[in-house]
Amino acid sequence: MSNGVSLFIALAAILNTIAAVGLLVWMRKRRGEESSTEDTTGHVWDGDLREYNNPLPRWWLWLFVLTVVFAVAYVILYPGLGKNPGALGWTQQRQWDQLQADQERRAEAVLAVYRNRSSEDLAHDPQALAIGRNLFANNCAACHGSDGRGARGFPNLTDRDWLYGGTAEAIETTITQGRMGVMAPWGEVLGAGGVDDVTAYVMSLSGRKAPRGDVAAGRTHYATYCIACHGPDAKGNQDVGAPNLTDNIWLHGGTPDRVRETIAQGRQGNMPAHGERLGALRVKLLAAYVQSLGELRVASRQP
Ligand code: HEC
Ligand code: HEC
Repeated sequence: MSNGVSLFIALAAILNTIAAVGLLVWMRKRRGEESSTEDTTGHVWDGDLREYNNPLPRWWLWLFVLTVVFAVAYVILYPGLGKNPGALGWTQQRQWDQLQADQERRAEAVLAVYRNRSSEDLAHDPQALAIGRNLFANNCAACHGSDGRGARGFPNLTDRDWLYGGTAEAIETTITQGRMGVMAPWGEVLGAGGVDDVTAYVMSLSGRKAPRGDVAAGRTHYATYCIACHGPDAKGNQDVGAPNLTDNIWLHGGTPDRVRETIAQGRQGNMPAHGERLGALRVKLLAAYVQSLGELRVASRQP
């Protein structure tokens, strides 16, 4: 708010209050002068309907006085006169923070019983899992789906296929610190024919065929460019989040076209860090919930 606007608002509020008090005084004066109850305003309707000019009832007058007193007290205590912060120092932000802090304290008290238990243990506690499910719905479902089965680019958390590991520790680290999976683009290095060959080889690892490309040539390219991350057996590497390429479970789609696109253009996956926002205790409850999803052993395959 600029100084000019602030001044304008303050003046408007003060002048309004003064005008209200003025009106009050003026009304009282008039009442003293014209005490006759037979006084009319002079307006006549339908021949004999007259409007009396009686003073306001006393209770009404006091109500009016009260509102003026309230207004004055209010602008002294609370922000109301332009930029003037008010004697109490109240702000919406501070009230919001206060509410948040209160809520956090209450939640902490409820969650405290889980502090000394491991997420593996909590994965078998129905109450802890119910809290975990809520946390998941609020913080994770947007990306991983409300049932945790993921979508293209967002891993399925209910299968046994893990990019970064399915142990309690690995899952807690993933949620706390986040993960960044980077698959570089290989289109320029390999050329179109080379990409076709590697695609044919990668498809063959899951017992599938690609419409083009030479599997043997692809295997050679794989050994040169891909082994470092996806491993000699192509089972992946959880240290860098390189997926297993032999299980026919696909993060970015398993049609020959999608696989070719992945290899030629590269892919990136970003799992945001949640540790700071949620705190260790909530991360643990979420990790427990994710482990319970894994234990459902849903053999789901993304096409
Ligand atoms: C903005 C989208 C997004 C949100 C929100 C998100 N994730 Fe993720 N998550 C991802 C992506 C993308 C990956 C895969 C990262 C990669 O490709 O390297 C991932 C990976 C994971 C993994 C590793 C899976 C594996 O196979 O190793 C776990 C576990 C996980 N997320 C759990 C969670 C939980 C629990 C939450 C909620 C606190 C959450 N995620 C919120 C996008 C998200
Ligand atoms: C620097 C390490 C690295 C190298 C080298 C690398 N990749 Fe990857 N690759 C990854 C990572 C990490 C991902 C997962 C990307 C993500 O998290 O979204 C991935 C994903 C993929 C996928 C997608 C799998 C799926 O489930 O959708 C394919 C296919 C793939 N790589 C093939 C290859 C081939 C073929 C090569 C060699 C030409 C190669 N990669 C080289 C790290 C690498």
